[in-house]
Amino acid sequence: MSNDAVNQTRRRMLIGATSVVGAVGVVGAAIPFVGSWNPSAKAKAAGAPVKYNVSKVEPGAMVTVEWRGKPVYILRHTQQSLDSLKKVEEMHLLLDPNSDQPQQPPYAKNPERAIKKEFSVLLGICTHLGCAPLFRPDVGAADLGGEKWQGGFFCPCHGSKYDLAGRVYTGVPAPLNLEVPPYRYESDSVIVIGEDQEA
Ligand code: FES
Repeated sequence: MSNDAVNQTRRRMLIGATSVVGAVGVVGAAIPFVGSWNPSAKAKAAGAPVKYNVSKVEPGAMVTVEWRGKPVYILRHTQQSLDSLKKVEEMHLLLDPNSDQPQQPPYAKNPERAIKKEFSVLLGICTHLGCAPLFRPDVGAADLGGEKWQGGFFCPCHGSKYDLAGRVYTGVPAPLNLEVPPYRYESDSVIVIGEDQEA
């Protein structure tokens, strides 16, 4: 190899080495910056929206999904349970049948309190003092008022009752309907709990 050729090869090697050092320097500088504004993976997971495929819920059944450490009840209605929502209105058993109280998203202002009437999505936290109401779909249950009970949620702590759309009965300690969390449909059957949908 001639002297010229050796010098050119050395120059190329030096340029290559400098570029690598430069790139490492940029990455090194970027990491502390990203770390300073990104929430930790744990914090992100705790507050993150939760996706759930509602097609897995059998008609008439209810599942509980955890979101931000809270229970979210997803109830799949049947024609009978949809009919029961009309009956409790006709019997004047409800405190806020039209969901007029302001803690509810606009899409809760219908009898099912839902974006799609087949699925009610509710926070499973009693609006009295925060116990978890029990799912009691058994129409006419003697311990819950017999004929007046059209199925719904019963809070065992102090006896509050809600219908199958989470609307609170009159004459019970709870002052409000069960809260409807923010949610939206990502597809026909997948809901995202924690992200709001326009009414
Ligand atoms: S906490 Fe539910 S009735 Fe009191």
